[in-house]
Amino acid sequence: MSLSHTPSAGDPASGALRLPSTGGLVDRLDRPMRDLRISVTDRCNFRCVYCMPRDVFGRDYAFLDRDELLSFEEIERIARVAVAHGVRKLRLTGGEPLLRRGIEDLIARLAALRTPAGDRVEIALTTNGSALAVKARSLKDAGLDRLTVSIDSLDDHLFQRMNDVRFPVARVLDGVHAAHEAGLGPIKLNMVVKRGLNDHEIETMAAHFKGSPYTLRFIEYMDVGTSNGWSLDEVVPSSEIIERIDTLFPLEQLSPTAVGETAKRWRYRDGTGEIGLISSVTNAFCGTCNRARISTEGRLFTCLFATEGHDLRALLRGGADDARLAAAMASIWTARDDRYSEERAALTPELRAARQRIEMSYIGG
Ligand code: GTP
Ligand code: 5AD
Ligand code: SF4
Ligand code: SF4
Repeated sequence: MSLSHTPSAGDPASGALRLPSTGGLVDRLDRPMRDLRISVTDRCNFRCVYCMPRDVFGRDYAFLDRDELLSFEEIERIARVAVAHGVRKLRLTGGEPLLRRGIEDLIARLAALRTPAGDRVEIALTTNGSALAVKARSLKDAGLDRLTVSIDSLDDHLFQRMNDVRFPVARVLDGVHAAHEAGLGPIKLNMVVKRGLNDHEIETMAAHFKGSPYTLRFIEYMDVGTSNGWSLDEVVPSSEIIERIDTLFPLEQLSPTAVGETAKRWRYRDGTGEIGLISSVTNAFCGTCNRARISTEGRLFTCLFATEGHDLRALLRGGADDARLAAAMASIWTARDDRYSEERAALTPELRAARQRIEMSYIGG
């Protein structure tokens, strides 16, 4: 371990935001740590029925207090150490990350980080799009590279029923447009498909975004958390989605652009763009999973379905230096053997239900 000092924030050119390489980590299944997803708030202004159902996340729900959240300085330190360990992409999530006050300041700090070779890391953000029309420009100016926006339907009535706060789909589309204009592309659009709720919108969504600058991705509804009452018959398998779209608009599969990608890519044969399919239920992708996650109060989770996280905030607030933080991260990642989505199929519904799982709104996508 070659980390021995605690650098302070400063001009990246001075090297203060660049730590020497710690050699890159691999876990017990030989998977490197490349992607760090950071949840910056557990709050959201939407109450999507599959993520934060109102009967669970109502008025009395105890969200985290401000002093429980990691500060921007703390997030930056964790990210800097993770980059020395091989992370090359940072994704901000929530809850809804644009609700965190001063998010641009955090983005600017993260954009100033450098890999051991002196390169930038990619900064991405996943949002519900509600604040984008206002914030797109300032996010871009702060150094954000890419955006993913959730959009589950184009039918305004259904969209409002799904977000359960009467937020109109037109305002999300305006936000996506503003983000595109601000240069935050290529923008990906995520549609979580739940059978009987929005699966009749698959073809409409495909037709609408075909030929647009956006890549639409269909996500199989997952059993994250316990509050959404997931059941397997509500999952629409990606194979069915492909078949349905292919009937209207012939498709062909593309090869992956990067190892560990969540989405399988398909292109329209007529050259009008591509779509993605994220099939964590019917075709798990744990074998190449290179994603680590930091919860809002600083716990490191090695899987979206992990039952417990590792408390990095306690280390930070207990005065640990970067070397200590790096050693803790290394021992957590090298011990990692998570592969929940691959194991899911073998679990009985009872065993699955008995397993504690963290909520998506707490850990982000
Ligand atoms: P980029 O490649 O940077 O665009 O990111 P991404 O494709 O990972 O995109 P994004 O963060 O939008 O993830 C899309 C969705 O895939 C999430 O909302 C989750 O539903 C799902 N997902 C992402 N990562 C994982 C994972 O590690 N495990 C599982 N089971 N699902 C995941
Ligand atoms: N299954 C699949 N995707 C989900 N998301 C939230 N809950 C679920 C679920 N149960 C997605 C959202 C958003 C991202 C943050 O996670 O649609 O795109
Ligand atoms: Fe919906 Fe995303 Fe908010 Fe969850 S975090 S309620 S998916 S907008
Ligand atoms: Fe990675 Fe866990 Fe998702 Fe598998 S289930 S891809 S190990 S986060």
